[in-house]
Amino acid sequence: MYIGLDLGTSGLKAVLIDDAQAILAEATAPLQVARLAQGWSEQAPSSWLDAADAVMQSLAAQVSLGAVRGIGLSGHMHGATLLDSSDEVLRPCILWNDTRSAVEAAELDADPKFRALTGNIVFAGFTAPKLAWVAKHEPAIFARVARVLLPKDYLRLWLTGEAVAEMSDAAGTSWLDVGKRDWSDDLLAATGMTRAQMPRLVEGSKVSGHIRDALASRWGLPKGVVVAGGGGDNAASAVGVGVVKAGDAFVSLGTSGVLFAASDAYNPDAASAVHTFCHALPDTWHQMGVILAAADALNWFARVADKPAATLTADLGALQAPGKPLFLPYLGGERTPHNDAAIRGAFLHLDHATDSAAMARAVLEGVTHAIRDCHDALTSTGTRITRLIAVGGGSKSDYWVQAIATSLDLPIALPVAGDFGGAFGAARLGLMAATGAGAEVATAPKIARMIEPDTKLTAAFSQAHARYRASYTALKGLS
Ligand code: XUL
Repeated sequence: MYIGLDLGTSGLKAVLIDDAQAILAEATAPLQVARLAQGWSEQAPSSWLDAADAVMQSLAAQVSLGAVRGIGLSGHMHGATLLDSSDEVLRPCILWNDTRSAVEAAELDADPKFRALTGNIVFAGFTAPKLAWVAKHEPAIFARVARVLLPKDYLRLWLTGEAVAEMSDAAGTSWLDVGKRDWSDDLLAATGMTRAQMPRLVEGSKVSGHIRDALASRWGLPKGVVVAGGGGDNAASAVGVGVVKAGDAFVSLGTSGVLFAASDAYNPDAASAVHTFCHALPDTWHQMGVILAAADALNWFARVADKPAATLTADLGALQAPGKPLFLPYLGGERTPHNDAAIRGAFLHLDHATDSAAMARAVLEGVTHAIRDCHDALTSTGTRITRLIAVGGGSKSDYWVQAIATSLDLPIALPVAGDFGGAFGAARLGLMAATGAGAEVATAPKIARMIEPDTKLTAAFSQAHARYRASYTALKGLS
């Protein structure tokens, strides 16, 4: 048996699988995000440990964990978890969708060695500019930073006692030489850091450590269960849905929105605002377009409308041509394609007839246009997508998935019921680390249905996307 733990932004999810990869048990524990100032987004690392304990206890209550051999970790990327020399947490973790370090990010990005070595823009949400922000605004804390860990790697430190990162998540720090798969001393030095403050690196499918005895006996695990390197949540999800070779891709409608394509070589194109990162498997990389609010935008509107998100999406009927109003989902700035931490969201063309259903449809369409932007950005780098799977909470809405299929003019596969997200991919990485298996176990899931583009509406979606692009330019001029 193998366990996958996925530290998501809104909750920590665990799955237990058997040797044939059938899911035996699942558990989730909610997590909160604190937004103390505009553009800020933080989480208490202690809440991750409480959530991990809760889900492990829940799994143990469902199935005896005595036959578990490996555990894999997945987690939201880019977060800065700062520890002192006793591994005590120095401040709340600054998350991936926190854009307070936009000024520091632009300063680092202006230094050509960052794009040259990391293959990426230094985005405000990445880890290195966060440390530059802490150095400037919280110098007493910066002076005490003995270690910087990504969120799932802090969970690993607690689980195993080992400070280890793996390539896919490390690639999102702006400190990794992504082609060489190693920390860059030059990039670390540019933010006043050294390699001594960074965790050891392993590949995602290899052993990073073993569960501490105290936790093994608490949860009824055998002694010495292997913990795999794991992956950033997107790379782990990719392993979960078998997106491991060029041509394979998925669209994720989670808190963030991601269009992810695997690739067999390191082909960065930073200027496109596409992210080029290491995959969680050796010698593989991937590209992705990332938008900061996908399901997050729908959940925001559901709160404002005071209706459950599922109710808002359930009543939409058959796919319609995008009309008015138009929504721009930039609630906390945007990464692909704009790299703009200052832009904010908007509804345009409201009128007396606009009701919450029309606005909900506009939110889904706005996110659809943003995913189309990601597709255009990926395509501009030469990446071709031949197989696309939808994952994440938002993929439960057929309306949304068909809007994306129509806008991208690509059929989208929906996996059979069951969660093939980060937790399942992490469990697969746990299996690989424990048994020595490789990418061959990362097979594609059974497909329940294909959602085909509505070709009658392709032109309407393209025209609406052009209006959406023009609206960004107009809005930027106003901000
Ligand atoms: C990827 C990114 C998000 C987070 C949260 O670059 O920032 O997808 O990993 O899921």
